[in-house]
Amino acid sequence: MSPVRIGLLGFGTVGQGTWTVLNRNAKEISRRAGRALEIRRVVVRDLSKSRNVAVGDLQITEDPKTVIDASDIDIVVELMGGLQPAFEYIQCALSNGKPVVTANKELLAIHGNSLFDVAHKTKGTIAFEAAVCGGIPIIKAIREGLAGNQINSLVGIINGTCNYILTGMRDNQCSFQDMLKEAQDMGYAEADPSFDVEGIDALHKLTILSSIAFGTPLQEFDSIHCEGIDTITYEDITYADELGFSVKHLAVARRSDRNIELRVHPTLVSKHRLLAQVDGVMNAITISCDALGQSLYYGAGAGSEPTASAVVADLVDVTRSFSCHPDSRVPYLGFQPDALANASVVSFHKTVSANYLRLSAVNRAGVLADVAKIFGDHEISIESILQKGSGLHEAILPIVIVTQETVEANMQTALEELKALPTVIGEVIRIRIESLT
Ligand code: NAP
Ligand code: HSE
Repeated sequence: MSPVRIGLLGFGTVGQGTWTVLNRNAKEISRRAGRALEIRRVVVRDLSKSRNVAVGDLQITEDPKTVIDASDIDIVVELMGGLQPAFEYIQCALSNGKPVVTANKELLAIHGNSLFDVAHKTKGTIAFEAAVCGGIPIIKAIREGLAGNQINSLVGIINGTCNYILTGMRDNQCSFQDMLKEAQDMGYAEADPSFDVEGIDALHKLTILSSIAFGTPLQEFDSIHCEGIDTITYEDITYADELGFSVKHLAVARRSDRNIELRVHPTLVSKHRLLAQVDGVMNAITISCDALGQSLYYGAGAGSEPTASAVVADLVDVTRSFSCHPDSRVPYLGFQPDALANASVVSFHKTVSANYLRLSAVNRAGVLADVAKIFGDHEISIESILQKGSGLHEAILPIVIVTQETVEANMQTALEELKALPTVIGEVIRIRIESLT
């Protein structure tokens, strides 16, 4: 089948991330979508600007009509930001029968009701997973995964720039301004960073999330309390830390009877809570529902490729809707049935992990040397060792060893040899340590 032809409006942080991800993962993506996805044309404001990615013979232009009005473009992706001309371009694309993918939360929060209306009337599509929480598929999770639930509340860190600034101020004692500059350099911040630090960006995202969670039209902002992090000082972060709290910029949406509570502000969160441990550019949202109970969604909340991940997911969704029978729009196994490829499972003996070992050994000189020799023979490096007990008068002492990453087969042979040592008494307890990467 011929490739789906994509036109990008905007080729900055997210636009270039989308180009990179679509190219690097082209094969895998087309196995999922059922067709190749090809960026045909890109619209920018300033043609003379240099770009961070090599684009070959990609057409870059300043004329939006070559995307929104062109017969050789199947999907329009709006990654410019701002209200105008983005609003006008999206309306035009929809009127021309082109599905639209956008990451523009400001536009959706302010004009979403009318844009969805246009999409409805033109039988079009607006997909916007990238508009909230960067790469976390939170919209899909709420709209589809939690569709059987009554959602009671959403509480989360939904602005990567704020979290990046607060984390840097706490961990590296950096100034607010230095951290903001870093967030801008990393491509996390909005074109106008006051949207981030004054809480407006989080407000936009909360508006979108709460509508999806509670089934309301997008709310007017006047009714939503909004504070940013611009008043938070290093002093407050340090005092909060001493009291057992992290300072986090939170968005809260809670349903009570017929009302909805919506607010965005800095908050002290107990360090024991998972949200307190969400640092840097990461975002996380806890959702409370009646059937599932609490669930947590965590991932990179901003940045070029994490956001592109969500943009491309929407592009795959739209492409599937072009090509597939409506009953099987999402293939059962995620990939198109004829694109599944066999892969053999790695033998367990070849897998690698670090290990915690506990053994009981006779309290005699040379025991540790015997243990170390076995490890050396099997290329196992010791990360740390603990010898417990009071020492001299005990006949048997527990020894706890943490190894570095080790091939499973080597570890198993070493365990057999350890157990066979006359100085080792009873079982050797082994628990694998996972790096979780
Ligand atoms: P960006 O780096 O500033 O890029 C914006 C792009 O749009 C630039 O290529 C710019 O052209 C182009 N552009 C702006 N106005 C234009 C106009 N009137 N006509 C034609 N082109 C125009 O912004 P970004 O960070 O990629 O963000 C894009 C959108 O994604 C925004 O809605 C933002 O809120 C959203 N978003 C961003 C992130 C993130 O981590 N950055 C995450 C989630 C969502 P020039 O390059 O020529 O100036
Ligand atoms: N400026 C936004 C943030 C980008 O920092 O969260 C992601 O929406």
